[in-house]
Amino acid sequence: MEKIGINGIELAYIRRGTGTSLVLLHGFPLDHHIWDEVVPLLEDTFELILPDLRGFGESTTVNSSYPMDDFASDIAGLLDHLGIQKTAIAGHSMGGYVALAFARLYPERISGLGLVSSQVLADPPDRREGRYKSATEVAEKGIGSVVDAMTTKFTPDPNLQAFARENMEKHPPAAYIGALKAMAERKDSTSLLASMKYPVVVIHGDADVLIPIERAREVKDALPHAHLVEAAGAGHLPMMEDKVQTADALKRLT
Ligand code: MLT
Repeated sequence: MEKIGINGIELAYIRRGTGTSLVLLHGFPLDHHIWDEVVPLLEDTFELILPDLRGFGESTTVNSSYPMDDFASDIAGLLDHLGIQKTAIAGHSMGGYVALAFARLYPERISGLGLVSSQVLADPPDRREGRYKSATEVAEKGIGSVVDAMTTKFTPDPNLQAFARENMEKHPPAAYIGALKAMAERKDSTSLLASMKYPVVVIHGDADVLIPIERAREVKDALPHAHLVEAAGAGHLPMMEDKVQTADALKRLT
């Protein structure tokens, strides 16, 4: 992977393909490899930028708390480095929270938004408390309990569960702690929807147990020009469970 220094961290990324630029952001606690199977389906249409978000994969992080806005600022810095002024951006789950922060902070830089297994709502108080509890547990005992709890929730497919477990085990505790706190404190983006005059694509598995499909339907209800794809039988990893439909939907962001 290529690497740049930005905001006190080293940010790793891959650049592939030619066409309109599209940034693909992974979710928690994963890295850019979740997109491996859709990259071949998209690289003739887009110039793809695939970063590892701060702390994950080959990117480093800082040992302090940081808001979701810092993840978005890392992406803006990467785009500056690459000479890309405006781009489409699609995020999976936590990557969607980063994409929403990017849309709020840099509205002039976004030409299309994809929300994959994500949501615009902030955490309710009990979920927020759960994140802080998990962050403390990771600090004291390591990432094991989060990995165990999440593995079967990603997808019912045992092969993809094995992928998810192996991927989750790669990242250091600091990445988990930083991201858990950033997710807990993220802003509600409901009011941002009205400002989205560009194409919006919402892709969601109808069997997602981590973020229920209702969150995607609510985005569609609030934003009639959004294109909603409900991936039948898919869990929280539609880019692997239903890669063709996911890629076809993302092509609307050209
Ligand atoms: C993710 O997949 O990024 C997380 O499950 C999102 C979340 O916990 O809200």
